[in-house]
Amino acid sequence: MRPMERVDLILSGIGELATPEGRLPRPGASADRIAVEHGRAIAVRGGRIVAVGEEAGILRRFTGPRKDAGGRLVTPGLVDPHTHAVFVGDRSAEFDARLRGATYRQIAEAGGGIRATVRAVREASDDRLRSETALRLSRMLAHGATTVEVKSGYGLTAPQEVRLLEVARDAAKFPAAPRVVPTFLGAHEVPDEFRADRDGYVRLVREEMIPRVARGGLARFCDVFCEEGVFDVEQTRSILLAARAAGLGLKIHAEEFAVTGGARLAADLGATSADHLLAVDRDGIAALAGAGVVAVLLPGTSYTLRRAGAAARDLLAEGVTVAVGTDCNPGSSPTESMGLMLSMACCLRGLTPAEALTACTLNAAAAVGMADRIGSLDEGKEADWVMWDASSYTELPTRFGTNLVAAVGKGGKVVW
Ligand code: NIG
Ligand code: FE
Repeated sequence: MRPMERVDLILSGIGELATPEGRLPRPGASADRIAVEHGRAIAVRGGRIVAVGEEAGILRRFTGPRKDAGGRLVTPGLVDPHTHAVFVGDRSAEFDARLRGATYRQIAEAGGGIRATVRAVREASDDRLRSETALRLSRMLAHGATTVEVKSGYGLTAPQEVRLLEVARDAAKFPAAPRVVPTFLGAHEVPDEFRADRDGYVRLVREEMIPRVARGGLARFCDVFCEEGVFDVEQTRSILLAARAAGLGLKIHAEEFAVTGGARLAADLGATSADHLLAVDRDGIAALAGAGVVAVLLPGTSYTLRRAGAAARDLLAEGVTVAVGTDCNPGSSPTESMGLMLSMACCLRGLTPAEALTACTLNAAAAVGMADRIGSLDEGKEADWVMWDASSYTELPTRFGTNLVAAVGKGGKVVW
């Protein structure tokens, strides 16, 4: 008989195990094909999954501490591919104002919106920014997200943007924190002091901020809010070309409110993702499909702003890889729950529960360039999993608004 192999953790007693499979994104219709199995167990060593298989076989082959799922559902850890999670302050008065008829754009032009949070962040002490961010990220983990992309974008000066990225990096060091993928979003808005010299701000982003962020290894991606009244396509292109030259991956806030050509630009530049896409048209969809750019849909934003959302079914029909995220931010989408996004992806965007699970795991991993490491329960991947108080993955979007997370594992450790 073979001697038993020692592992760090065996996840046993799993009722249903539901996961997309593989190390590549699942474009279009292939997002609907996931593995749904019963009687499986998972063996974990060194933070990675060493084996997934029939429970009796796993228990014959491996020995080590056990975590019993008690017949519960287990899925991969959810991946939130788009957040603005480093901020302080409350803008719920804007929510109230919008329900009385003000638009997001009017509020922004009157100095509210992003610029209001920028003022609050600039005034906030390091301690406050750190503790509010860490708390927020821990809540995101408690709602099922084991990896969270986090953008800067509420500092809008070189030292402030660096500070935000450092806060994001350090927040990931707490035991009950998700893994953080940092993105530089200095081009989130034109700050008050540059309103009369918008190109001057673009130069500052390109010539001072990007080199500093890249030199410090503070971000993996660079993003731009490409939108009417914010940064136009040419400004966006020039910023992203500088980012690419500095070794950063590319993302674009594209076609959120108006069709500006952001999706086509994402395709031209070979961006990893184009995000929002509420207003994307046929040409934009074809461009994303042709270039293999991941479409990141943010249903919390269209929900809060009470707007029609992105054309998810058209994107899927054209073969685009569709991911879903929270867009967690103090204005347009103040949610911290990827669990809730599973439901919004279905009921607001028309995804099936299986497509939604893929969009919130493997395809979201692809949106942060990590589909080879996270996003599915495959051997060799990071041991990131969620145990749910549910018996099947179809329950997750059905039972909306309740946090069904029973336990979370990240990198092999039970962290929640
Ligand atoms: O993704 N669109 C730009 N940025 C955020 C909104 C941020 C805010 O309102 O503070 C978004 O929706
Ligand atoms: Fe956003």
